[in-house]
Amino acid sequence: MITSLILASALALVPTQVLAADNGLAITPQMGWNTWNKYGCNIDEQLILDAAKSIVSSGLKDYGYNYVIIDDCWQKNKREKNKELLPDPTKFPRGMKALVDDIHDMGLKVGIYSSAGTLTCGGHIASLGYEETDAKTWAKWGMDYLKYDNCYNQGQSGTPKLSYDRYKAMSDALNNTGRPILYSLCNWGEDGPWNFASTIANSWRMSGDIYDNFNRADPACPCETYDCLLPGFRCSVMNIINKAVAVGQKARSGGWNDLDMLEVGNGGMSHEEYRLHYTMWAALKSPLLLGNDVTNMTSETKEIIMNKEVIAVNQDSSYSPAVRMWVKGDQQMFSGNLANNTQVVILLNAGDKAAKMTATWDDIWFYSQPHVDASKSIEVRDLWKKQSLGNFTDRISLDVPAHGVRMIKFMDSAQSS
Ligand code: GLA
Repeated sequence: MITSLILASALALVPTQVLAADNGLAITPQMGWNTWNKYGCNIDEQLILDAAKSIVSSGLKDYGYNYVIIDDCWQKNKREKNKELLPDPTKFPRGMKALVDDIHDMGLKVGIYSSAGTLTCGGHIASLGYEETDAKTWAKWGMDYLKYDNCYNQGQSGTPKLSYDRYKAMSDALNNTGRPILYSLCNWGEDGPWNFASTIANSWRMSGDIYDNFNRADPACPCETYDCLLPGFRCSVMNIINKAVAVGQKARSGGWNDLDMLEVGNGGMSHEEYRLHYTMWAALKSPLLLGNDVTNMTSETKEIIMNKEVIAVNQDSSYSPAVRMWVKGDQQMFSGNLANNTQVVILLNAGDKAAKMTATWDDIWFYSQPHVDASKSIEVRDLWKKQSLGNFTDRISLDVPAHGVRMIKFMDSAQSS
């Protein structure tokens, strides 16, 4: 009896062994809402509470958007005597725990932000060297998610090992709290996080910051390929897609390429462009983190972010990002395996004029062995029109709007024997 009591209390002292990418979180890409794209530093408790309430009342929560993430500029700019961080008391007068409790009561989870540097990108106190203290503080507040940035990193980047060690320190600290905290690494693709982060983090940004623009080349975002030294910011949707395709195969359940937060609903792009943006984030298995004002959404915005069939592609249990099968000028074709022998195909037209695009069975199943037989008739469903387009054999040709996509699902791609 005494022996079993001692054993039981000894076991209770062993921290739950949760390892970042293996912490049971982000089995499919995380979904939620983040303050940054719309509000930048202008955040406070009321704004976040109002957003959380709207996520519930608009039905977004039922579509899977369940993380409410507080990005930069929440901090008070001085650590306490015991080195703990506190929130800015004017923005968060009740402290963080009260806000987190309220959001938990709505059935949502909460995320927070810091940087693996001495300061955050917005110039606030950050966590380099304070990993254990800060992780404990966030766990105490009930945080479920950490977005961890890369600014002011004191030169501790430039090789994968330097970046890995710096980000692993926080991964270990989060795990040591025993609280499952989704770890979203945000180093903009520096040092190739798709190669080093999958054992320590649940997702990693693969590009400099997005901005609300379809394809404008901006000197602030000089990289056209994923392996360039200056990730920058003001990266357009097409710039990010063209970088993301190369690292797609590095994603896996529990560890995802993060294409950055969504801009749908923020006003800088057309409806077709936003549809393309959302389609590609879903199909490339990026986290789907809304970045718009969720308290005031147009029906056009809702139509995009509340499409169950598109979200199901992102959350599919095959966990496979769509692969770019070809590029022909402004046109690109993507194909991705889905569960139950179904397949998603995207015809993307980045050009300024509508175009007819064709995908053959050989294009679509190029990597499947054996190929799906060209004579096989397959039902095709249009995921944006939410209707069947009928049965097709050998190829499908569809009209694709300028700066737009057609996203279709092949309902049966089993190879007939
Ligand atoms: C960096 C990140 C952004 C945002 C800001 C906040 O630029 O990449 O997503 O978090 O910092 O300052």
